[in-house]
Order: sequence, then structure tokens, then C-alpha cells
Amino acid sequence: MQHQRVLVLDFGGQYNQLIARRVRDLGVYCDLKPCDMSVEAIKAYAPIGIIFTGGPNSVYDETSPKIDRAVFSLGIPVFGICYGAQLIAFTMGGTVIRAATSEYGKRECTIVKETPMSEGVPSKSVCWMSHTDLIEKVPSGFEVLAVTDSCPVTMYGDPVRKIYGVQFHPEVVHTEYGNRILENFLYRVCGAAGDWTMSGFVEEQTRILKDKIGDKKVLLALSGGVDSAVAAALVHRAAGKNLTCVFVDHGLHRKYETEEVMRVFRDEMGMNLIMADARSRFLQKLAGVTDPETKRKIIGAEFIKVFEEEAKKIGAVDFLVQGTIYPDVIESGKGKSAVIKSHHNVGGLPDVVDFKEIIEPLRDLFKDEVRRVGTELGLSDSVVWRQPCPGPALAIRIMGEVTEEKLETLRDADFIFRDEIRKAGLDRAIWQYFAVITNSKTVGVQGDFRTYENVIALRAITSVDAMTADWARIPFEVLESISTRITNEVEHANRVVYDITSKPPATIEWE
Ligand code: XMP
Repeated sequence: MQHQRVLVLDFGGQYNQLIARRVRDLGVYCDLKPCDMSVEAIKAYAPIGIIFTGGPNSVYDETSPKIDRAVFSLGIPVFGICYGAQLIAFTMGGTVIRAATSEYGKRECTIVKETPMSEGVPSKSVCWMSHTDLIEKVPSGFEVLAVTDSCPVTMYGDPVRKIYGVQFHPEVVHTEYGNRILENFLYRVCGAAGDWTMSGFVEEQTRILKDKIGDKKVLLALSGGVDSAVAAALVHRAAGKNLTCVFVDHGLHRKYETEEVMRVFRDEMGMNLIMADARSRFLQKLAGVTDPETKRKIIGAEFIKVFEEEAKKIGAVDFLVQGTIYPDVIESGKGKSAVIKSHHNVGGLPDVVDFKEIIEPLRDLFKDEVRRVGTELGLSDSVVWRQPCPGPALAIRIMGEVTEEKLETLRDADFIFRDEIRKAGLDRAIWQYFAVITNSKTVGVQGDFRTYENVIALRAITSVDAMTADWARIPFEVLESISTRITNEVEHANRVVYDITSKPPATIEWE
């Protein structure tokens, strides 16, 4: 079944994926595509509505992305946000000017004319702005629909042609009625049916996978992360015992992680699960290695080797499942950003497995949708809400050489940290939180004895997409109990420090 689709054209703003996620949350499937998509391609895509995102440019810059005017003659409703709104005004003959000062933050927005876009929105409400240029004059045929003190055209539109623009960001939570405005665009302007649900997705995918797989053989590498776990549960529903999962225990996982994978997937779900115990191999390879990138490369290469050996034992399979998700396949409107760290994932597997075809059952889903699918499939919160863990896992949270002793200290400290965060009810508010074992030792006093042990650093961040992050404001009392427990319960740790650096300039991981 073909779902109704909205097209979100990406003009490079930082909230673009958030817009697409909000649209999906409202029950309408959408795709985020680069802003240079041709009018023919847009027509062929057949969206029920088009959203232009924000972006960092000014419409008057020669190199700034523009839009073909013909897009407004397709009869498809259009909604422009921030730069998107300015671009509509500019393209249709309105005036955009540079404001004296940039406007950033909350403003009171007053609706001056009711349209389907403002249904259910009070005449005054808070909206969130982030712009320098502003629309001074709307194009002919358009009307000003809302204003703020400092922004003469906060919302404008033409209800007949169904083209609207807002200067603020409806997708961020600080815009009180932002979700309502997006919902109005989808349901009251585009006439959406709301046919995108996760239970529907599970049913549909199970059917598709069943048809495709039949009684053929399927192989999947379980990483311990959310994506591969949900992909495994979904494919298992369709393929049962024809699916074999391989979990490589490289000994760098967090405390109890391997046990949990065995319990959930083998014992509870009854999957065909092969546990490859490669702990000593990885430790040997990592002996004496201190450089972060070298660690990553060694782990990536060794992971593939272990997997290859296991795959050889299984022999030829028909399908290889990968847990690719939508953000991995989106082509950004801005082009590719610089590689800061070489991220290890299972991308190298296709080369070492004898298979006919790759299956990526989650490639249309955002992370929050993957989680909802996991819950639909009966996976517990501890699996579905597992925080992201880098492929090299604890190896890049141990500064310097990775040893079994340091791994043990880190696993224990990290476990306490996570346990206390969960008990304090902060586990969903904080995006990622983990312990790091630094390579400094400090003097301490425990009982009547002098100690000389490791410093444990705590890292906890809030983020939307891991591209930027802020350090989490964990209450002092919670930090205190974490510190007390770590220094009391964990061997070889006598000091705890809290990392208060944002990204940038730091990265989330320490290595
Ligand atoms: P950084 O440290 O670059 O991390 O700010 C951003 C996000 O990526 C994760 N990360 C990795 N994930 N392999 C992965 O699969 C890696 O080598 C790797 N390094 C960092 C990190 O945990 C954070 O969520």
C-alpha cells in the first residue's frame, strides 16, 4: 500500500530532521530530500504537501539555494518555515530585508487573521524565532496572518492557493502551538488521512518480509544496539527459525549487556542466536595500543574477521539483514560534513558474507519510530530505550591502553552511574551518559590507607542528533550519590569528576 506522503525539502537548517519527525509523529509519512529536487521529480513523487525547511542562508546571497517558481503551480499545498518562508516571499515577488539585529528566542505571536493554519491556536501564543532576515512585504495575493512586536510578517499565506509561511520554528517545543500549526497544515490544508502508524508498519513489513523470505535463510549481526535489536525482532516475526543472529562478544560491552542479549533474544524470543566469544582475541589485539583511531580500526577489522568466521560456519545465506535507519540514508541539503572520527559499524559485513541480497527493514524509520516499532514487537524498555553505544564500546572510554583490569573498573563505575540516573528518573531526559576511565591516577585516602588509583570521569549530555550536545545539568545530590557509590563500591577508583564541556568544542566520547 502506498502511504500518503509529504515532501520536506531540506534547505540546510539544523532542525530539518526534527520537522520530518514531527510530521511522521502526526501520522503522515514524509521524506526529507535535498532542496535542489527538480519540479519534475517533485511532481513524480506526488506529495500531498511540501514543506520548505529553514536554512542558514540569506535569499539575496547569490549562492543560496533557490526554488523554481513552477513548484507553486502544481496545485500542491506548500508550507515554508523560516528561510523557507522567506524564499516563498522572495520567489513570489515579496520583499525580504536584513533586520538590524538577529532575533533569537521566544516572542509573543499575535494572530491577525484566522485561516485553517491557525485553527485551535489562541490569538496570542509563544513562538520561537531564530533569524536575521525578515519578510517586510508579502507578495501580491498573500496576506499577513500573524505578527510579533519585532517581526511584521510572522505568518502569512494564501488560503486559496494553499501556500503558507512562518518566520518562527513550529517544530521546536518552545513554540507553544507549533505542533498544532504543523497538524493544521497536514490535516486542514493538505487533507491528510493519517495513515502512518507503527502498528500498521509492523503488520505491513511482516507481510512484505514473509513474502520475500519464504523459507529462505537470513543472517543478522546483533550489535547490542537498538536498531539491530528491533530489526532482529521484526525479521524474526516474519522468518522465525530461518533467521540466524550472530552476536560478537568482544569483551568491550557494558556490564550485563551480553547476558541481556542472550536472555532476551535466545531465551525469551527463542531466536537462533550464535554467541561468538572473542573476548581474549580483542584484548590481545588491543594490547599496548593507545591511539583512539588505531583502536577503532583494530576493533572494526577484528569484528569483521570474527563475523566472517561465524558466517563461514553457517554457509551461504539468501539474505543479510542490516539495521540501517532513515538518518543514515538521508542526503542532506548541505552536503556531507567533515569526518571527525571514523565510526565503526557493520558496513563492512557485505564483503565477508556469502549472501544474495541485503534486507534493511528499518531504512524508512527515524530512531523514535524504531523504538516504537520495538515496543510494538514486545521488546522491553531496557532494550528499546538503550542509549547509543559506539561500535568500539568501552575501548574508547578507556583512555590509553585497554586492559581487563581497567575494563572491569569501568564496567562497574558505568553500571553505578546508569543505575543512579535511572533511579533519579533522568534516563530519558539525558541523551547519553556513561563513565570514562581517564589515564590519570590520583592520591586518595580510604579508611586509614593512602590510595593511588584511577580518576573516573562522568559524561552526560543532552542532544537532538549527537551533532551538537550540551552537558546535562544533573542535580548535585544525584552526582553525590554516584560519586559516593563509585568510590566505595568500585575497585581501583578513588576520584570522580564531572565533564562540563559541550560539543563543540569537545566531542561526546572522550576518544
Ligand atoms: P562524538 O564522540 O563524535 O559522538 O561526539 C557522536 C555520537 O556517535 C557515537 N560514536 C560512535 N558510534 N562508532 C559508533 O558506532 C564509533 O566509533 C563512535 N564514536 C562515537 C557517540 O557515542 C555519540 O553517540
